[in-house]
Amino acid sequence: MSLESFVRGLPKAELHVHIEGTLEPELMFELAERNGIELPYGSVDEVRAAYEFTDLQSFLDIYYAGASVLVTADDFHDLMAAYLERAMADGVRRAEVFFDPQTHTERDIPISVVFDGFARAQATFADRISTDLILCFLRHLTPGDAVATLQEALPHRDRFIAVGLDSSEVGNPPGQFVDAYRLASDEGLRLVAHAGEEGPASYVREALDVLGVERIDHGPRAADEPDLVARLVEQATPLTMCPLSNQRLQVFPDLRDHNLGDFLAAGAKVTVNSDDPAYFGGYIGDNYLAIADALDLSEADLVVLARNSLEATFLPDAEKAALVAELDAYAKRGRA
Ligand code: ADE
Ligand code: ZN
Repeated sequence: MSLESFVRGLPKAELHVHIEGTLEPELMFELAERNGIELPYGSVDEVRAAYEFTDLQSFLDIYYAGASVLVTADDFHDLMAAYLERAMADGVRRAEVFFDPQTHTERDIPISVVFDGFARAQATFADRISTDLILCFLRHLTPGDAVATLQEALPHRDRFIAVGLDSSEVGNPPGQFVDAYRLASDEGLRLVAHAGEEGPASYVREALDVLGVERIDHGPRAADEPDLVARLVEQATPLTMCPLSNQRLQVFPDLRDHNLGDFLAAGAKVTVNSDDPAYFGGYIGDNYLAIADALDLSEADLVVLARNSLEATFLPDAEKAALVAELDAYAKRGRA
């Protein structure tokens, strides 16, 4: 079996994917036409040509503009269904999927429309892939907006399992969002946050200490503080890393410089994920293959990454154990 087939068949979890970041240009055009929305691009090729990013903000500007084609429950359904098809083809057994409600409610789309569309796709695929939603707060908006968004979502409490924090990191430290996280925690929601992508290691510490997050999304900048890395290892805090994103957003312009291998060698619970695959040139399998190639990772390393991903899910222990057993059986057969 080729390495590519081995990687794509590896039972794994995706823990860091923004559903709005899975909007492929073809679907963007289809939805724009369906909803009578004018796009600032003449063709799919022109859209892809615009995906040259200098940093996180240069990407976010285009990403939020792209999401404007999502209007009806059918649109949110089609977006989720397309992602789940691709995830399944990459061996994903469990996906914990971010969505940005404020990107939609700011355009007067009711949050119930967003949930209804996603739920229909999740139900269609439920016998083949386990999925749950993570509601993300946009950190470029105010802490009060985050609390209001969570309150608006709480009538749909059974539709999401966790909250996260994303968007422009530098200058928007996680601790500002403590009230929204406290409310989420009181509601029994699990807690994650983007930290240490472009922002400093201190944001990773703040996300742990002030927000009480259980996973760090991204986190490579934590390496700037060896004590923090030691703590992440000691506490087995999962890091949901996204190699192709880091490359395309110039965090590590050359993937051979990526520090994922250092975290892995230190014993950190590193996972590999796709972030915004429609914008960064690859889904989760492509991310595994790209980082394996750049860092010369072994087949055993790839199995560790997949095992970490399954263990880092928010699934009940018995479901986690069943998936890990499936992975172990797959790894034992190897590439033969
Ligand atoms: N929203 C979508 N992708 C993101 C990323 N990589 N960092 C912060 N916010 C995001
Ligand atoms: Zn992200």
